[in-house]
Amino acid sequence: MRLRNIPGADEALANSKYVIKQPETYRGKFREQIFQNENPIHIEIGMGKGKFLLTMAQQNPDINYIGIELYSSVLLRAVQKMEELEKENNVPGNIRFLCVDARKLGEIFAAEEIDRIYLNFSDPWPKDRHAKRRLPSKEFLALYDKFLKKDGQLEFKTDNKGLFDFAISELPLAGWKEKAVTYDLHHDPVLNAGNVMTEYEEKFSAKGNPICKYIIYR
Ligand SMILES: C[S@@+](CC[C@H](N)C(=O)[O-])C[C@H]1O[C@@H](n2cnc3c(N)ncnc32)[C@H](O)[C@@H]1O
Repeated sequence: MRLRNIPGADEALANSKYVIKQPETYRGKFREQIFQNENPIHIEIGMGKGKFLLTMAQQNPDINYIGIELYSSVLLRAVQKMEELEKENNVPGNIRFLCVDARKLGEIFAAEEIDRIYLNFSDPWPKDRHAKRRLPSKEFLALYDKFLKKDGQLEFKTDNKGLFDFAISELPLAGWKEKAVTYDLHHDPVLNAGNVMTEYEEKFSAKGNPICKYIIYR
């Protein structure tokens, strides 16, 4: 997702209490120092405008959520939604955001610090030479290994069949296993139960595109 550069976005994020600044300083201490509880932490990498994670946070107050987004102009939308909810006295206290490149996450989270990872409608990077930049690539799976709990899982959704097939083919190379797979999530009564749609999921399923999803573990 590329929005036009919004003037003042960086400054607005720097001043927002919902955005974690200098996240490396909380390595191994996110529960204690950011959320001040012992609840599990679930993250979405490439969260976009944050509809999915915000809904998950509202539905699951006993889970801590961290949304990760590369572009400040995109993350700003999520922060603005939080500010609107704050005015309605309805803001969930269990969600924070990071404006960083996913490639930095090994420096930010300690081993076993994260209980679950969500990847939703990750950018496909269609050229072969860019395969390493795909968030479900074996290179990224090796990075997630560094901070995902031993019994943790990763959930990935996309309407891009080529990207999904690529993601499945990367699993044995990275030592991950399938727990569940569907090529048509919205018609899979088991996997679709409780499904929270993302912005991209709403857009592409409205066009009739089936949604693929896997849940994986090591
Ligand atoms: C296609 S959008 C999907 C947004 C949202 N997850 C959804 O399903 O509606 C992908 C998002 O991932 C972000 N992104 C891509 N590469 C990233 C990276 N290396 N680190 C963090 N965010 C990234 C993009 O900026 C974009 O906002």
